[in-house]
Amino acid sequence: MKRKEDLAANQEITKSDFGDDFRWGTATASFQVEGAVTEDGRGPSIWDTFTTRAGKIKNADHASISCDFYNLYQTDLDLVSELGFTEFRFSISWSRILPSGAGQKNQKGIDFYNKLIDACLERNITPWITLYHWDLPQALEDQGGWKNRQIVTWFGEYARLCATEFGDRVKNWIVLNEPMAVAGLGYTSGLHAPGRKGILNFLPVVHHLALCQAEGGRIIRENVPNAYIGTAISCSSIEPFSQQTRDIKAAARADALMNRLFIEPLLGLGYPVDAFPFLSNIEKYALPADREKLRFDFDFIGLQNYFPVVVRHSYLKPVLWLKEVTPVQRGVRRTASGWEISPDGMWEILKQFSAYSGIRDIIISENGAFFEDHCVDGVVDDQERLEFFREYLQKVLQAKREGVKVKGYFAWSLMDNFEWAEGYAARFGIVHVDFNTQKRTIKNSGKWFARLLNAEPLPVTLKQQFTKSNPLEQ
Ligand code: BGC
Repeated sequence: MKRKEDLAANQEITKSDFGDDFRWGTATASFQVEGAVTEDGRGPSIWDTFTTRAGKIKNADHASISCDFYNLYQTDLDLVSELGFTEFRFSISWSRILPSGAGQKNQKGIDFYNKLIDACLERNITPWITLYHWDLPQALEDQGGWKNRQIVTWFGEYARLCATEFGDRVKNWIVLNEPMAVAGLGYTSGLHAPGRKGILNFLPVVHHLALCQAEGGRIIRENVPNAYIGTAISCSSIEPFSQQTRDIKAAARADALMNRLFIEPLLGLGYPVDAFPFLSNIEKYALPADREKLRFDFDFIGLQNYFPVVVRHSYLKPVLWLKEVTPVQRGVRRTASGWEISPDGMWEILKQFSAYSGIRDIIISENGAFFEDHCVDGVVDDQERLEFFREYLQKVLQAKREGVKVKGYFAWSLMDNFEWAEGYAARFGIVHVDFNTQKRTIKNSGKWFARLLNAEPLPVTLKQQFTKSNPLEQ
């Protein structure tokens, strides 16, 4: 894709550049922050099980306390306000409100989210609910999880419960978070919960996720008046390593998988079998009426962009016949996760998705970076993360000025948290968390957001004296 002259390069951005109606938020996910995994009747999720399996999580970390957001949500929402954000994205823990995944609901779990929503509204923070951010109830996994088509019914029941319980106050909804990660990492490579491996899982899981994505949208539409409904897709701009035909074809296959797989069926275009014929095997799992059921006219698509990907053809990798040319091999700038830092990649992906005529609005529902942080005398000088946000946002602004209908941006994440298989080793927060004391410290990147968003000047003692005692010591 030909890049236009940079409009925003080296230019300091301001909030007003993005317009008064641009939504500025920060995001979290239930399993990553809540802790309290056995409190108040919550049932086990696949991540509770996965974290007990040897060798699955770095340093054998688990999330039973994590950021203790379940108990500390009020002060964490104070931080959201102090940082100047008006939108807060969180996910519902399915097993907190339906401990067995279906059937008996857990009123105490519902009460927690009611209190959280009310606490947002009291602070003039607009809540955004993600229905599914990877923490499937274990009881459903025991019956096949995302591989079992019955998940469409289970998910429908769960979505309806959320819509009817919370829809009076919550108008912004994200149905799924990165379904590709669920299918790829959860059920194919086994790097994420439930840790299932094998390409044979991939196709039915993709299909059931795609069905639930649309079905969830329909259920929210039916049950929540004036809802603004989306779903969040992981995406990476893809480049071939060379201009050789086989590398170009490899890049097209990667693009089909990483970018097109969940948006095109939604838009009525079917799965991207043109670039990746293997996907035609999904037909085996589809019923005649499914093509229509895969469609839903979302109000927005959430794009989650972190890094671009460069690929080349490989005879050694069956099915996909490609391999990544890593950022290390290419000698490019990267985060502590080893992910390439590429603001241009953000621009490319915005352009690519805005070319679909069926997409209404785009929201950047996640963007952020892991860098090694050090909290010294109450200061976390995370200049690299700050630059990362600034550079990526410049490119969001450039795309917006070029006509892309990008309507909001969510920084990932409000605070350091349980980073899945990386445990607590990978910090993505704009607020530092000391996991021994639960003390929060706003990082310099967070302070940069506060200035960008014209929040009140930050008091010097801001949240430094954290009062709650460490649950580990209780
Ligand atoms: C996920 C988050 C995760 C982040 C950083 C996204 O793919 O939605 O849960 O923490 O990436 O890895």
